[in-house]
Amino acid sequence: SINEQESHDFYVKVVVTGDSGVGKSNLMSQFTNKGFRLDSKSTIGIEFSKKLLKLDNGTVLAHVWDTAGQERFRSLSATFYRGAKGSLLAYDVTSRQTFINCKTWLKEFRDMADPNAITVLIGNKNDLRHLRAVTVEEGKIFAEQNGLLFLETSALENYNVEEAFKTLLVECT
Ligand code: GTP
Ligand code: MG
Repeated sequence: SINEQESHDFYVKVVVTGDSGVGKSNLMSQFTNKGFRLDSKSTIGIEFSKKLLKLDNGTVLAHVWDTAGQERFRSLSATFYRGAKGSLLAYDVTSRQTFINCKTWLKEFRDMADPNAITVLIGNKNDLRHLRAVTVEEGKIFAEQNGLLFLETSALENYNVEEAFKTLLVECT
């Protein structure tokens, strides 16, 4: 709306990256107040969502870009990353492979986005305690070694989701 256009101090594009199935689309939909879907379909192409957020230093209009973690859509990469000031790099705490692959996602983001862009590492699905395959400590260590911020989240329980985006947006403004 016109009101929204006039009422923000910053505009920031951020992207959500990580393997297929880690919960990127649900993190985005929780953040933008569209809820959680247990039966969500794999993303096709690129999806956008925006949210106006009040931070200490002003109001930010966040444009969140989400795409498929699957290899077959990677031709969209250049468009996807262009102009991004930050990324949420998500893995699934119940899947070690998705954690291992963060290295590749991080390299791609650093190669293609703004050189000063910020990344927040996200260990999602931390509600699945009995299935955990990656410890909190491992997430912290990877983050420290690569200059990332780090949080665990649950899109299902809406735990730390707004916190994760806020952490990123504060760094990007
Ligand atoms: P692609 O679009 O294929 O890249 O996947 P995605 O990363 O967008 O994953 P999506 O958000 O579609 O979630 C995949 C599945 O995991 C869905 O069945 C979700 O309901 C489920 N899921 C997402 N987040 C959580 C979570 O925090 N906890 C639990 N238990 N399930 C989750
Ligand atoms: Mg998706």
